[in-house]
Amino acid sequence: MDNYEDRFLSPEEDIKDEVNTINLRPKILKDYIGQDKIKKKLEVSIKAAKMRKEHLDHIILAGPPGLGKTTMAGVIANEMGSNIIITSGPVLEKAGDLAAILTNLNTGDILFIDEIHRLNRSVEEILYSAMEDFQLDIMIGKGPTARSIRIDLKPFTLIGATTRLGLIAAPLRSRFGIILEMDFYPPEELQLVIERTCGLLGMNIEKDASFTLGKSSRGTPRIANRLLKRVRDVAQIKNKEIIDSDDVNETMKILEIDRYGLDQMDRKILDVIINNYNGGPVGIRAIASSLGIEPDSISEVYEPYLLQNSFIIRGPRGRMATEKAYNLLNIPFNPDVPSLWEDKNAKQDM
Ligand code: ADE
Repeated sequence: MDNYEDRFLSPEEDIKDEVNTINLRPKILKDYIGQDKIKKKLEVSIKAAKMRKEHLDHIILAGPPGLGKTTMAGVIANEMGSNIIITSGPVLEKAGDLAAILTNLNTGDILFIDEIHRLNRSVEEILYSAMEDFQLDIMIGKGPTARSIRIDLKPFTLIGATTRLGLIAAPLRSRFGIILEMDFYPPEELQLVIERTCGLLGMNIEKDASFTLGKSSRGTPRIANRLLKRVRDVAQIKNKEIIDSDDVNETMKILEIDRYGLDQMDRKILDVIINNYNGGPVGIRAIASSLGIEPDSISEVYEPYLLQNSFIIRGPRGRMATEKAYNLLNIPFNPDVPSLWEDKNAKQDM
């Protein structure tokens, strides 16, 4: 399996992976590592809702893949003592698909919609009155005999997860009372996630090894746990009982992950910006077509981490590589090249 697949599995494999790791997931807020500001806000809202004996306000969880949005939704449901029903934007093709789920909800249930930014317009529209008034307005039939019926729903909480908060239109966004944006995890927190997983799986790891692995995990617990499995393989074939830094470093070398946690695809993206587009500015679509990958996977998976770590910057005319990116690829940086940010009115290629 190459490095790209190891980090970002196909949807089918991702589901298998989710099932395998499902009992590793924390169930209560106290066991959820990191995202302290979000946990504080949730603690207050959950406590208040329970005191009022009311359902929780609708919540958006936003952030790059793998940061624990689904896990957090499960924790919220558990803390509220509620059932959780899990679905996703692309699965809900027709208004009727969502209506069937909504009419089956019980009071206080949590409906989790992953990738909520991918909902069809017609599906999204029935959410408005469902979220606001717990009513479903639905058209029956077509043409002159069509009629609208109204169905009362039980009060529920919608948790929408998204990797693209900016793509959620105002009418939907404004119906959420709580909007939570997740951050990448610092290495110290990923170290704790790794040590927790090791504890649950009966593995032993030295402190500096878990920290090194934390630094190599792109700020993402899902990647940390996945890389841990590869490190375990390396330690196992050497008959080692305790994983040490050598095992981590050896694994990262095999997987071609550098000291910043960047993989081949991250470096290819920087290479394309620098070598094909003179350092930028360049639009996402142009980068994606040079590499033969989907623009969405750049915007949702790669770009956020490259931006956060200052390997690229984003301006009105696209993405530019920074001096840090040139240094990483050992290419001389010529600061005179980019006189590139003048045209502030140019349309951005998203
Ligand atoms: N496993 C994956 N993410 C986690 C987190 N944030 N806290 C605890 N365990 C995790």
